[in-house]
Amino acid sequence: MEIKKVGVVGLGIMGSGIVEVCIRSGYPTVISEINQGLLDKGMNAIKSSMERAVKKGKLSEQDQNAALGRLTATLKTEDFSGCDLVIEVIIENMEIKKKLFTDMDKICPPHTILASNTSCLSVLEMASVTKRVPQVVGLHFFNPVPVMRLIEIVRTIATSEETIETVKSFGQSLDKTLVIAQDAPGFIVNRLLIPYLLDAIHMIEIGAATKEDIDRGMELGCNHPMGPLTLADFIGLDTIYFIANAMYEEFKDPKYASPVLLKKMVTIGNLGRKSGKGFYDYKK
Ligand code: CAA
Repeated sequence: MEIKKVGVVGLGIMGSGIVEVCIRSGYPTVISEINQGLLDKGMNAIKSSMERAVKKGKLSEQDQNAALGRLTATLKTEDFSGCDLVIEVIIENMEIKKKLFTDMDKICPPHTILASNTSCLSVLEMASVTKRVPQVVGLHFFNPVPVMRLIEIVRTIATSEETIETVKSFGQSLDKTLVIAQDAPGFIVNRLLIPYLLDAIHMIEIGAATKEDIDRGMELGCNHPMGPLTLADFIGLDTIYFIANAMYEEFKDPKYASPVLLKKMVTIGNLGRKSGKGFYDYKK
């Protein structure tokens, strides 16, 4: 099956990035949020990201206008009825996700593939509330979506081969490279990345080195674009805490246990870049 029209539900940082790559790759895309304010905020994020690309000479004004012309913004779930693929990028809450999958399953035609951008929740559990279990799959993008080349395809025990092939072709058409992971918390990248970030936070806790030196060590010693504490702030400390807890819950392996310092920072709202303060201060 060929994807001709896409739907994206949820326009946070990841959702708006996914929409940008879809419309820039030529896909008519239906987008929605839970209220008009968040819909407008997401639209503005998509527009300003493309404006930056125009200013840098990476995108022509004509192509920007054509891409924006492919957007249909809506607050009505019914408007997703013409989509061949719907990607949910909403809050990481299983009950809310299940409600969305139930609604989309009723509204979308039988051929539509339903995908989740979850980073750690069970895609099979989302699929279980639909009548199209073989057509439910994970499509896990990375931040910032327009820059990062990878998409993890998350295959449940019930995802059909046809669904995998269709989303693989779709991902390639966005100029991304696809890897396939089983439906277990962390998939491939977070399963390796999260323990590394937790270890870096633990090093701060025990005073093994300063945050600046830990970051510099990994940037210059391993050629990483960002050190682990800068990266943790970039991803969001609440997100890391959530993923770590989901992985610990599933695997009961201490390597996924959150350091106390991470819990404390999340408790006081020091979530990284998005809150203005994490391991570093972004208010300046
Ligand atoms: N949108 C579009 N383009 C962006 C961007 C954004 N949000 N942020 C940066 N860029 C582009 C810049 O325009 C620039 O492009 P050119 O080189 O063509 O001019 C390029 O990226 C480099 O940007 P900068 O020079 O401003 O800064 P940088 O060199 O520090 O790169 C970065 C920024 C791309 C974010 C880089 O630091 C990086 O790759 N960091 C690691 C990011 C990472 O690991 N992401 C994965 C997080 S894990 C995840 O997402 C999954 C999960 O479930 C938690």
